[in-house]
Amino acid sequence: MKRDFLTLQDLSSREVQRLLKRARDLKSGADANKCPLIGKSIGLLFEKASTRTRISFEVGIYQLGAQAIYMNQKEIQIGRGETVHDTARVLSRYLDAVVIRTFSHDTLRDFALSSSVPVINGLSDAHHPCQALADLMTIAEKKGRLKGLRIAYIGDGNNVANSLIEASVLTGMDIVLACPRGFEPEAEIVEKALSWGKNAVTVTEDPEIAVFDADVVYTDVWVSMGQEKDAAKKKRKFKKYQLNSDLVSRAKKDVIVLHCLPAHRGEEITDEVIDGPRSAVFDQAENRLHTQKALLEFLLT
Ligand code: CP
Ligand code: NVA
Repeated sequence: MKRDFLTLQDLSSREVQRLLKRARDLKSGADANKCPLIGKSIGLLFEKASTRTRISFEVGIYQLGAQAIYMNQKEIQIGRGETVHDTARVLSRYLDAVVIRTFSHDTLRDFALSSSVPVINGLSDAHHPCQALADLMTIAEKKGRLKGLRIAYIGDGNNVANSLIEASVLTGMDIVLACPRGFEPEAEIVEKALSWGKNAVTVTEDPEIAVFDADVVYTDVWVSMGQEKDAAKKKRKFKKYQLNSDLVSRAKKDVIVLHCLPAHRGEEITDEVIDGPRSAVFDQAENRLHTQKALLEFLLT
């Protein structure tokens, strides 16, 4: 039976560990000449802009021996009203998997229901699970473990935050999120994650409380793609949620700083922090490639 990857809930914690181990091996150059996906075709159907997700998937697919076919939704018939269901049924006849970047998470679910091949979430308004896999790999690489660590997420309770919550709990980390009132992560996701294990998921309005004793501090843009309406008003509410040197200095001395990128430098994060010695954001971006290759292998072989 086909397996989809729409959220972290689609993987068990054991599968996440296996995938992270495989990603580490791939990064170290193991099996560099093996092409486990030779002869396969993988579609990338994107409704939003992308640098990292698109390019890391395209390169990873090529390195695994398959071909990537990029589709901008405006250039295929879905942009002219062909249904998601019909599109999924047709693409399943040609492709071996589809990576989708979309607005509504329901579109992704609908596509997956009608698709007979694996569907991977390349970001929806509610989740960004491929990002979370790379986040986990980066944390494990820098800290030597995941279990027992404490992550602080500062800013908007958005798609990246939702997936980070699920990823943290699945791997035994505690997470505390500092978000302005009205911008907290989805309560349903927090509750579900809490029900999986013994790890804490805490939401506060105070960024200083959140970063206290943190091993990892993480932030993302204040205004996500498709949410540009009222951006100026929203940014005013987020002023005290900037990841700057003062805030980072309140975390553990050996804290690492993560950001999924793209960053709005001078808004949610300062140059000094993103370019500073605690930052791991460019390793994090690189790890998109390795974790997604491991994911594709896992789903398709
Ligand atoms: N982090 C991330 O998904 O980046 P892109 O929007 O460039 O793909
Ligand atoms: N929260 C951001 C993440 C971009 C990778 C967005 O959805 O635009």
